[in-house]
Amino acid sequence: MSFKDSIDKDRLPQHIAIIMDGNGRWAKQRGKLRTFGHKHGVKSVRETAESAAELGIKYLTLYAFSTENWNRPRAEVNALMRLLVQTINKEVKTLHDNNIKLMAIGELDSLPAVTRKELNNAIDETAHHNRMSMILALSYSSRWEIANAAKIIAKRVAENEISPEDINQNLFESHLTTNYFPDPELLIRTSGEHRISNFLLWQIAYAELYFSPKLWPDFRKEDLYEAIVDYQNRERRFGKTSEQIIK
Ligand code: FPP
Repeated sequence: MSFKDSIDKDRLPQHIAIIMDGNGRWAKQRGKLRTFGHKHGVKSVRETAESAAELGIKYLTLYAFSTENWNRPRAEVNALMRLLVQTINKEVKTLHDNNIKLMAIGELDSLPAVTRKELNNAIDETAHHNRMSMILALSYSSRWEIANAAKIIAKRVAENEISPEDINQNLFESHLTTNYFPDPELLIRTSGEHRISNFLLWQIAYAELYFSPKLWPDFRKEDLYEAIVDYQNRERRFGKTSEQIIK
């Protein structure tokens, strides 16, 4: 039996975020360079996006490149940027076939011009799709995002557009790059690491965290279904007591 059969279609998370980890270790286990692992990680991206869209997930955010990843060896950074361009180019068809809209969050200005161009083209070409949004976090870090929001708000106060009293959680949130999406209810990290690594810190305040032992290139549809079943078996209380939760 597949975990898919146990999924309650009426209680799906709207938004799933994934920290795709373990490409390097997967390659090392096979005596290959780290970039070999990244290349194989693309298949997991495709399978995850297809199965999430089929199930009816509305938003899928993938941590593809963190601000800290710029500090990796130059050759790996370049290979990742090339892979990103090739993948976007090749997978636009998958996005069309599955009615998926591509979006991106992060410090996109810091990406190489060719990567930015390919990304923006794919974003424009898929803008009309509405089954699911796939959001790539690129050159993203949560602390950057939060500091950036604070800077924009400070400028608006300095220009008398808003007053300090207007600043509340809603206003702050509307200045984050994730302004267009609901918060993820489920955050998955692969590779057995139990860390958040500067990803969506504000947005995961109430998310359920799921840690898969699988290395990202081994992550398949069934692993996504298993994570969703696990999520659905949890009780989300949002600070209330069990008795207060209406089932
Ligand atoms: C983490 O594994 C993975 C990355 C930093 C890159 C993720 C990129 C892809 C899966 C390929 C392209 C993606 C898209 C969305 C087109 P790691 O290198 O940190 O692995 P390790 O922890 O084993 O070293």
